[in-house]
Amino acid sequence: MLKYAYHNLLASPHFPSALPKQKLEEAKPACETAHQEILADRSADILGFYNLPETDITHIKGFMAKLDPRFDTMVVLGIGGSALGNKALYSALKTERELPRKLFVYDNVDPVYLHEILASINLDTTIFNIITKSGTTAETMAGYMILVDIIKKKFPNDYRSRIVITTDKEKGFLRQVIKDEGYASFTVPDNVGGRFSILTDVGLVSSAFSGMDITLLLEGAAAMRNRCSSMDIMNNPAYLNGLIHFLYYRQGKNISVMMPYSNSLYDFADWYRQLWAESLGKRKDLKGRDIFVGQTPVKALGTTDQHSQVQLYSEGPNDKVFTFISVESFKHDYTIPNLHPDREEVSYLGDKKLSELLNAERFATEIALTSAMRPNCNIIFPQIDEYHLGEFIMLYEIQTVFTGKLLHINPLDQPGVEAGKIATYALMGKEGFDEERAEIEKYKQEHGLES
Ligand code: PA5
Repeated sequence: MLKYAYHNLLASPHFPSALPKQKLEEAKPACETAHQEILADRSADILGFYNLPETDITHIKGFMAKLDPRFDTMVVLGIGGSALGNKALYSALKTERELPRKLFVYDNVDPVYLHEILASINLDTTIFNIITKSGTTAETMAGYMILVDIIKKKFPNDYRSRIVITTDKEKGFLRQVIKDEGYASFTVPDNVGGRFSILTDVGLVSSAFSGMDITLLLEGAAAMRNRCSSMDIMNNPAYLNGLIHFLYYRQGKNISVMMPYSNSLYDFADWYRQLWAESLGKRKDLKGRDIFVGQTPVKALGTTDQHSQVQLYSEGPNDKVFTFISVESFKHDYTIPNLHPDREEVSYLGDKKLSELLNAERFATEIALTSAMRPNCNIIFPQIDEYHLGEFIMLYEIQTVFTGKLLHINPLDQPGVEAGKIATYALMGKEGFDEERAEIEKYKQEHGLES
């Protein structure tokens, strides 16, 4: 079970200026309302991610069982919620598990990055999984057209077996392509938004392909969902962490730093960054009033960023809440040999495990930040495996929705992303965007930019 150590978030003799526990008591009515709203949304089938642990995954297992064994690599094409979860799970487990199959995630439109991926794979043993809920995202569509063209030319007779598409069950251009071409396909459920979709086919297919135990992942998620079902915030880590972050945000702590002390979990800080930013960064409240809210999520890596960021964290503006992620037991470890027993500069490290040093440094950073009156907590993984990752995912998804309720915003939409998408369509000549194109031309002239 994941542990949540939050003592440095609340006031104590060591940290008198932290949040008084009394504030949690005072927030009880707001929490009760948020909880009721979540229950109502769940009854209205809006928060589909809560029920994902019970989803039938036999179609994924069936697909894997029938998959040609020559495929040893998958390339996922997707972006945002259709990519970050795949990356995070794979990075977390690829060394822990020595996963038998490789995964690459192409989640940009950078041509050099695409070249790098193509240069690293054997096309003959690679399967491509195009993931897009809307089926219209420019970045993913561009990659799809390039890669499918390459595959069709190279394997004119069996290109279909090398392409899988994950999209809406009915809507969108790609669903039509699936019908026309007969590609294998998976579905993104209607009631699960992109950044909450890691435990749908979006994240599970590539995870099962690479060799993860997706049943265990869902079991971990179910356990955390059950642990976070109580209205009593002291017994609900998602609500408690959400409430504390909300209260600190109201006190001006505008930044939430997630700092795993594990390279394997670093991409999960990226996954969290999207979840927290896109869900909570909102202009309007539920009544349509301008409120401009949202805590900026930042990722950092322990110990690496102790030599880059911690100076700012401990002495810079006191505007951050810190979340360490630590691991108790690592799959691989090394003992530091006592190469220089007579040199005090390094002999203290001799015969210690690397993991001991790593966790000591995390604790040292905790002590340093606490003495500098910087609120911090620690999410502790007993070990990195599917079960604990499932717990982590569900913890943060519930926490995000709960915090959205406290902020009185809709954590499930992303209207601010639309403006950029529309401008891209206009710039790239998509039909139906003439007005926007004319606006952009005007902007270019005003700023002396080339047409
Ligand atoms: O969380 C979200 O909804 C977004 O980040 C989407 O996942 C992202 O924009 C990609 O969308 P799509 O899956 O439709 O291509």
